[in-house]
Amino acid sequence: MSENESCATSNEKTSVQGEQPVPSASWNFLKMSNDSTAKTIIVALLLCLVCSVIVSTAAVALKPIQLKNKSLDKKRNILQVAGLYQEGKSIENLFQQVEAKVVDLASGEYATDLQPGMFDQRKAAKDPQQNIVIPVNQDIAHIKQRAKHATVYLVKEHQAIKYFILPVHGYGLWSTLYGFVVLEKDANTIYGLQFYEHAETPGLGGEVDNPSWRAKWPGKLVYASSGIPNIEVVRGTVDRSRPEAIHQVDGLAGATLTSRGVSDLLRYWLSDQGFGPYLKIARSRLGESL
Ligand SMILES: Cc1cc2nc3c(=O)[nH]c(=O)nc-3n(C[C@H](O)[C@H](O)[C@H](O)COP(=O)(O)O)c2cc1C
Repeated sequence: MSENESCATSNEKTSVQGEQPVPSASWNFLKMSNDSTAKTIIVALLLCLVCSVIVSTAAVALKPIQLKNKSLDKKRNILQVAGLYQEGKSIENLFQQVEAKVVDLASGEYATDLQPGMFDQRKAAKDPQQNIVIPVNQDIAHIKQRAKHATVYLVKEHQAIKYFILPVHGYGLWSTLYGFVVLEKDANTIYGLQFYEHAETPGLGGEVDNPSWRAKWPGKLVYASSGIPNIEVVRGTVDRSRPEAIHQVDGLAGATLTSRGVSDLLRYWLSDQGFGPYLKIARSRLGESL
């Protein structure tokens, strides 16, 4: 038997004796011209199939790692804004100083039936069972809807609250800014403000992340004597000679719309529509364990 004959025999299905051998599909495929449309389409489809299997396997396998990293990143941000972050130290260990609780925003009381570790505020904001639609005339943060509950993070000293770390979000110019505002134990004086997610323009609205701008927040008071949130990012520079300066922070140059977004989101979340009822209770129980 010649070499060619032996090759054909191995690649073709030999049928019943005496009949013509049936060529296998793979043999047919290999024999197709590389320029043929059918072969190009088959190769492209096979490539897509292999790639999609690789991508979906990686996505499923990496999901737990992604979730863990997301949770660690959130904890790092909370520690940073509360001034508790220490480079090189375990985030999980440092986070033991922080106590998470879920608050019912309408009543201002803690929701005993929701576990902070299990409650996802962003998911709840999209669930009609767990959210409220914000009337347009009250929606100064431009978020349309919010969860009925929110997770607050507390730093305590001798059982009494030292810092309230509150999640806030609202629309800037291009994006929703997500961050944390930290209030001191009087539930009025700002200790810090930090955003961990936004898509404002770097160098303009993105300057919300600039440490020198963030340094302008500590010591500012949220509430006017009427009890209404009066915190404001002004256009330009604060006139320190005026009494309202205690509620004001310098605006971001060339980013008036992002600056206004920050004012509005803080005013919304610290008003009676947001954490207002919770903070009123906190002020009335100042120094007690809450
Ligand atoms: C490419 C581009 C990106 C901009 N990004 C922002 C931004 O992130 N935040 C913002 O408030 N304004 C941004 N602006 C400017 C706004 O369009 C608007 O002019 C500005 O907010 C007005 O504020 P000003 O009076 O301080 O200049 C951007 C403008 C351009 C052209």
